[in-house]
Amino acid sequence: MQDDVLLVHGGSPLEGEVRVKGAKNLVPKAMVAALLGEAPSRLRNVPEISDVRIVKGLLQLHGVAVREGEEPGELLMDPTQVEQANVADIDAHAGSSRIPILFCGPLLHRLGRAFIPDLGGCMIGDRPIDFHLSVLREFGAVITKRPEGLYIEAPNGLKGTKVSLPFPSVGATEQVLLAAVRAEGTTELSNAAVEPEIIDLICVLQKMGAIISVTTDRVIRITGVSKLVGYDHRALPDRLEAASWACAALATHGDIYVRGARQLDMMTFLNVFRQVGGAFSIEDEGIRFWHPGGPLNAIALETDVHPGFQTDWQQPLVVALTQATGLSIVHETVYERRLGFTSALNQMGATIQLYSECLGGTPCRFGQRNFQHSAVISGPAKLHATDLDIPDLRAGFSYLIAALAAEGTSRVTGIDLIERGYEDFQAKLEALGARVELPMRVAESVA
Ligand code: EPU
Repeated sequence: MQDDVLLVHGGSPLEGEVRVKGAKNLVPKAMVAALLGEAPSRLRNVPEISDVRIVKGLLQLHGVAVREGEEPGELLMDPTQVEQANVADIDAHAGSSRIPILFCGPLLHRLGRAFIPDLGGCMIGDRPIDFHLSVLREFGAVITKRPEGLYIEAPNGLKGTKVSLPFPSVGATEQVLLAAVRAEGTTELSNAAVEPEIIDLICVLQKMGAIISVTTDRVIRITGVSKLVGYDHRALPDRLEAASWACAALATHGDIYVRGARQLDMMTFLNVFRQVGGAFSIEDEGIRFWHPGGPLNAIALETDVHPGFQTDWQQPLVVALTQATGLSIVHETVYERRLGFTSALNQMGATIQLYSECLGGTPCRFGQRNFQHSAVISGPAKLHATDLDIPDLRAGFSYLIAALAAEGTSRVTGIDLIERGYEDFQAKLEALGARVELPMRVAESVA
């Protein structure tokens, strides 16, 4: 596909301002939550990304009227006429997202059954859904697996339960929340994920009438209620996109003001950014990130669940670490295959060696299992342009950063994957002075 190829001319710093809107990892889930209400909901600060389009389509298939509000980025969702959707239609709409699995609880409450197709999402690990299925069964759901997907029913309704997750999974925690808020009785979830996007989802549900408490020991308690209303909510800003721009500023010797970025959600990232030698200043409406000149510092880093260093920050930061002086060590403990993207960076002149051993002390599920989930990065490296094929969302943006930091013109394919999570990224790059172009435009300018 011609418009799926981006030419990136590297070698100049990114400078200027970008704005981040609502978080990709909250907005689609808040949209699913709207299904639980008996009245319309209004979500603000919604980015135009493909995960939002997919969930919008799925809601519409289930009878939810979705329309844009008056202010930009405002979505109005009316779930008063929810109805069963056709299995083939659901399958056709859901293809490239992992969000459909979260429709289970709301659809079971509203319609007594749900169909969930095979899930998409980034191939950064096996990404099983065993935790989801196990907690749904605890609530009393009956799951039948067929080749086309999962058929789920709740013949006696969903009942509150006591569950503990084997790992603080974001998706499984959301599954429990969306099922428990209208289940009969109370639910206690231990070893829950407490990412800022989850806390924001809890805020949405509380506005709808839910009763949820979060304790400091990763335990979430939910008292089921029989009825929820609509909500009016402004989505929290995307701290993952904000960090991506911060890394772009660092790797290109640039200076980017990220309007909308919020300190509280990014404290762990900011500490690491400072250790590496990046500079930032917190302002009322955003955060400015820049390269202060001089060499960057090599660091040892481990990804972890919140409040640790978020795995989605890892890939863009690795690109910046190729410019640091000395040996950096990265231990990825959330996804077993999230370092594969580094082979392309090596083709560009980086020196990154992967290891299957755990290079760090954070408890990890991947040691001794032949997953190359630790990296040693030797820098600084002079990067040069190459052909890049994007394997997943964050790797995709990281490749753009590397191509912008490199000498020469890189040809990047698979950019539609970046659109899953970065609104209008080409326009934002151009606003920062990046020289990027679709081949079609190159051809036109030559003609
Ligand atoms: N896991 C299981 N079984 C399950 C569920 C998860 O083994 O049933 C494992 C996963 O394989 C993984 C770990 O638990 O090793 C964590 O997965 P989690 O469930 O937390 O991830 P997720 O809900 O599928 C969301 C984000 C990811 C983000 C992770 C971690 C969305 C749509 N996706 O995924 O975002 O990396 O949480 O914070 O919210 C991204 O934005 O690029 C991205 C991949």
